[in-house]
Amino acid sequence: MTNVNLAVIFYSMGGTNYQLAQWAAEGGKEAGAEVKILKIPELAPQSVVEGNAVWKATTEKIAHIPEAKSEDLEWADAYIFSVPTRFGNVPSQLKQFFDIQGGLWAQGKMVNKVVSAMSSAQNSHGGQEATILSLYTSMYHWGAIIAAPGYTDPITFAAGGNPYGTSVSVDQNGKMVEDVEAAVKYQAKRTVTVAEWVKKGQQ
Ligand SMILES: Cc1cc2nc3c(=O)[nH]c(=O)nc-3n(C[C@H](O)[C@H](O)[C@H](O)COP(=O)(O)O)c2cc1C
Repeated sequence: MTNVNLAVIFYSMGGTNYQLAQWAAEGGKEAGAEVKILKIPELAPQSVVEGNAVWKATTEKIAHIPEAKSEDLEWADAYIFSVPTRFGNVPSQLKQFFDIQGGLWAQGKMVNKVVSAMSSAQNSHGGQEATILSLYTSMYHWGAIIAAPGYTDPITFAAGGNPYGTSVSVDQNGKMVEDVEAAVKYQAKRTVTVAEWVKKGQQ
């Protein structure tokens, strides 16, 4: 058992990142953390969401998941973000969520939080790495500590070898191409472990 609080925060239009987040939550729990799984609030107009069958279905599927709030960022010792790649970058929904955390940031509340990120894209080289690195840029501004998987376990190679964070591609039907479940769980465990070290070091 650990005393680490982990917030797994995702945005998903087609369900992929919701699944990645669920695996991360499982991995975090297996590592002994208290885990909250949270979604990034939607910004797209309701009419647009409802006009897309997949998007609408995902929205209904995640309706029970609470939206991430500043208090969750304060509560957690560690964050795992999972977001789809949008034109090689994070979705605007996530950026907006970051952009309304200025108050928390000004109080230094995100300093020394341990973070890692995951992403998906349609193509196997469609920008997942760029998305994760772009997300990490904001984390440097928060004073967070990035606990990327690197090549700290052979599992990273088996999942496609992205050292920045687990990433996956999806086929035309929105199904994941690579099997990344074990890599996601490993990434979550590593994030929790590093957060535990950081917490202990501050006591
Ligand atoms: C506006 C938009 C931009 C996208 N840009 C990219 C891209 O740059 N590269 C890529 O391979 N896929 C791109 N995609 C596909 C998404 O990354 C893919 O549908 C997503 O990763 C699936 O995750 P989800 O099921 O959690 O929504 C884009 C999709 C949308 C809607």
